[in-house]
Amino acid sequence: MKSAFRFSVNGDGIASLVFDLPNEKVNTFSMPVMQELETIIDNAAQNRDIKIMSISSAKDGVFIAGADLHSFEPMTSDGKSVQDMIDTGHRTFDKLANLPFPTVALIDGACLGGGMELCLACTYRVVSDSPKTILGLPEVSLGIIPGWGGTQRLPRLIGLEEALGSILKGKPTKAYRAWKIKMADAIFPTEFFENKAQDFLKYCLTKEGKKNIYKRRKLSGLKYQLLENNPIGRYFLFKKVKKDVLKKTRGHYPSAIIALDLVENTCSLPLQEGLVKESKAFKDNVKTGFANAKNLIELFFLQEALKKESWVPADIKPMKISNAGVVGAGTMGSGIAWLLTNRDFSVRLKEVNWQAIANGFRSVNDIYIKLSKEGKIKPIEASLKMHRLTGSVDYSGFQHMDFVIEAALENLTLKHQILTDLENVVDPACVIASNTSSLTITEMGKVMKHPERFVGMHFFNPANKMPLVEVIASDKTSPQTIATAIDLCRKLGKTPIVVRDCPGFLINRVFIVSDNEILNMYVEGASVKELEQAMFDFGMPMSPFALADEVGNDIGYKVSQVFELAYGSRMPIPALLKAMNDRKLYGKKCGQGFYLYSGKKMTFNPEVEKLRKELSIRCKSFTQQEIIDRVFLLMINESARCLEEKIVANAKYLDMAFILGVGFPPFRGGLLRYADTLGIDYIVNQLKRYQSIYGERFAPCNFLLEKQKNRQTFY
Ligand SMILES: NC(=O)c1ccc[n+]([C@@H]2O[C@H](COP(=O)([O-])OP(=O)(O)OC[C@H]3O[C@@H](n4cnc5c(N)ncnc54)[C@H](O)[C@@H]3O)[C@@H](O)[C@H]2O)c1
Repeated sequence: MKSAFRFSVNGDGIASLVFDLPNEKVNTFSMPVMQELETIIDNAAQNRDIKIMSISSAKDGVFIAGADLHSFEPMTSDGKSVQDMIDTGHRTFDKLANLPFPTVALIDGACLGGGMELCLACTYRVVSDSPKTILGLPEVSLGIIPGWGGTQRLPRLIGLEEALGSILKGKPTKAYRAWKIKMADAIFPTEFFENKAQDFLKYCLTKEGKKNIYKRRKLSGLKYQLLENNPIGRYFLFKKVKKDVLKKTRGHYPSAIIALDLVENTCSLPLQEGLVKESKAFKDNVKTGFANAKNLIELFFLQEALKKESWVPADIKPMKISNAGVVGAGTMGSGIAWLLTNRDFSVRLKEVNWQAIANGFRSVNDIYIKLSKEGKIKPIEASLKMHRLTGSVDYSGFQHMDFVIEAALENLTLKHQILTDLENVVDPACVIASNTSSLTITEMGKVMKHPERFVGMHFFNPANKMPLVEVIASDKTSPQTIATAIDLCRKLGKTPIVVRDCPGFLINRVFIVSDNEILNMYVEGASVKELEQAMFDFGMPMSPFALADEVGNDIGYKVSQVFELAYGSRMPIPALLKAMNDRKLYGKKCGQGFYLYSGKKMTFNPEVEKLRKELSIRCKSFTQQEIIDRVFLLMINESARCLEEKIVANAKYLDMAFILGVGFPPFRGGLLRYADTLGIDYIVNQLKRYQSIYGERFAPCNFLLEKQKNRQTFY
C-alpha cells in the first residue's frame, strides 16, 4: 500500500507529519492506515532530534474526516474486526499522547470523529478560521460512541457540560467557538495559517508559551465549581442531561445513553482507567447497544452517494446562476428568498401589493435576526445578505433573472397566469421553477411557449431548515434545466432527489395518506394526545396536528382537493379538513388551526374538538399499534405504488427522501426498511384486515401482492 503519511524533521528539530491518504479527497482511518501511523509514532519516539511535532493534512478543506466507516460495516456480523480497530486506535493514540516531545494538531478543515480523537491526544491544537474548519465527535448520531479516547479526553479538556453537549448531540463545533471553549489553543486566519502555525510551534517550545497555554485552558469559574467540580453538582448535571436526552430521543438512540453513562462513571477517574473503560464499553455494545448503527451508517453512505448522483448524462452542464426571482413572498417564498440571499444570490421578490412585499422582507429578516442572536451569523454579514433582496409588485427586474422560482398560491389558474406573464418578461435562457406541492409540472407547463425550461422544485416547510428538495421533470423539461435546478439545490445546501411528475410527486402523495388517516382516527374517537404520543413514540419529530398548522390548513385543503381528484377513493378529503378550511382555521400563520397560538404558547383549539363532535359517528378506542399500523401501512402501500410507477428510482432514495423531507426516524433506516422489518405477510394481511373494516383505501396494491407472492423484500 502507498504510504498515507509524509514524515520529516528539519534542522531545528521540528518534525512534520502530513496525512495524505492516496487517491482520496479526504483522510480517513482504516486499519492499515492506523497501523502505519502507529509505526511512524514508534519510530519518532526513538528520534532524539525531535523537539516538537506537527500533524497536518494535505487535503483541501479536510483535516481528518474520521474513521473509515466501512470498517464498521461488519459491526453486527463480525464484532472481532471492530474490536481490533478499537484496540489499535487506543494503543496508537496513547503512544501519541505519551511521546517524549509535544505534538501540535494543525487543523485547517473538517476534523471529525477519529480525527478529533487524534487531535485530543496531541499536546496542543490550532485551528484556522476557515468556514470549513469544524471539530466534532459525530459518533452518537451514527449509533455508536467515540471509541478512541473521545469520551475521556474531551471532558477533561473542555469540561463536562461542553463535552457532553458535543458528544451527545454529535454536532460539530465551528472554529471560532472551538477556540472559545478551549477545544483549540489558538486560531489563525486561514490565509496565513501555515506561517502562523510555525510561529506557534516555536511559541510552544518556550517556557512562557507553554505556561500561557495551560493557564488559558484551566477550567475555572463559579459555574464550573458548582456544577462540575464537586460530586453533588455532577450528580444533578448528569441527571438533567439524561432527562433531556431521553425526552429528545425517547430511548431510540441508546448510544447517547451509553456515552452519557460512560462519561458519568469515568469522569473522576485517572485518564488511563477511563480509557480502558471506554474501550470496554465500545466492545461490550457492538452487538446490542449499537443496534441502530447499521441503519445509520448505511444512511450516511447513501447521503454521500446522493451528493455524487448526477441524475442527468455527464455531458449536460448546469447553467450559471447568479441571481433569482421569487414570485410570492408567503411562507415558502420568503423561506426560499432567505436561502438564496444567504448563499449570496441577488433576489427579486414579486408580490401582489407592497404590504405583502414588506411581510416577505420581514420574514427573511426574522430568520437573520434569529441566527444573529444564536451567534450563527455576524450582524454585519446578515445586513449585507439582506441587501441582496429587492422587491416589486410587478415583474420589473425579472428580465435580468437567471432563474425564477414561483411560490404563489396553490391554484392552477393563477399559476398559469404567472407562468404566461413570466415568459413575456424573462430572458429566453432563464429557467423557471415552481414550488407547487400538488399540481403537476406537465399540467402547469401546458400554457408555456418553452416548457423545456420549466421544472418543479419542491422545497419543504420551513424552507430554511428542511434539507430535501424534490426536483420534478415533466416529459418536456430539458436535461439542462434539470441539471441547473439540481446545481442550484446543492448551492443552497440542499439534497435534491429527482422524481417523476405526478400529483403530489413522491413525498406529498405518500405523506397525505398518513395525514388523512390521523384525522380519520381523530374523528373516530382517538384523542389528540394518543395520536401525538403514538407518532412521537414511533420516532416522528413533530405532532401531525402542529405540522398541519405549520403547512397551513388552507393549503392542506387545496392540496387534498387535487389528490382526491387524482387518486379517488384512496385519498378522499377528510371532512374535518374541509370544516377547518370553511371556518378559516388556517393554522399558525393566522394564530388558529388545530392549535391556538399566542406568543410561544400553543393550546389545542376547543373549536376543533367541537367540529369533531359534529362529525363523529362513533367513538371507538385505539391501541397504539393500530394507530401506527394505519398510518405507516398506508404510507408503505402508496410508496409501493410509487416504486411501481417509477416515481422514484429505488427504495433507498425513497427512504432517504422521507427522512430528509418529513423527518421519518433515521434510526429505522427508512420507511421501506421499516416495511422489511415488518415482513410482507404482516403488511398485506393487516392491510386486508383494515380494508374489511375501513374500506378500499386500505386495499393492498398489486406491487405488494406480487412481492408477497414472490417472497420479496424491498431491499
Ligand atoms: N406551506 C407549505 O408547507 C408548502 C410546502 C411546499 C410547497 N408549498 C407550495 O408553495 C406555494 C406557496 O405556498 P405558501 O405556503 O407559501 O402560501 P402562502 O399563502 O403563505 O403565500 C402565497 C403568497 O403568494 C402571493 N401571491 C398570490 N398571487 C400572486 C401573484 N400573482 N404574484 C405574486 N405573488 C402572489 C400571496 O400574496 C401570498 O403572499 C404553493 O404552491 C404551495 O402549494 C407550500
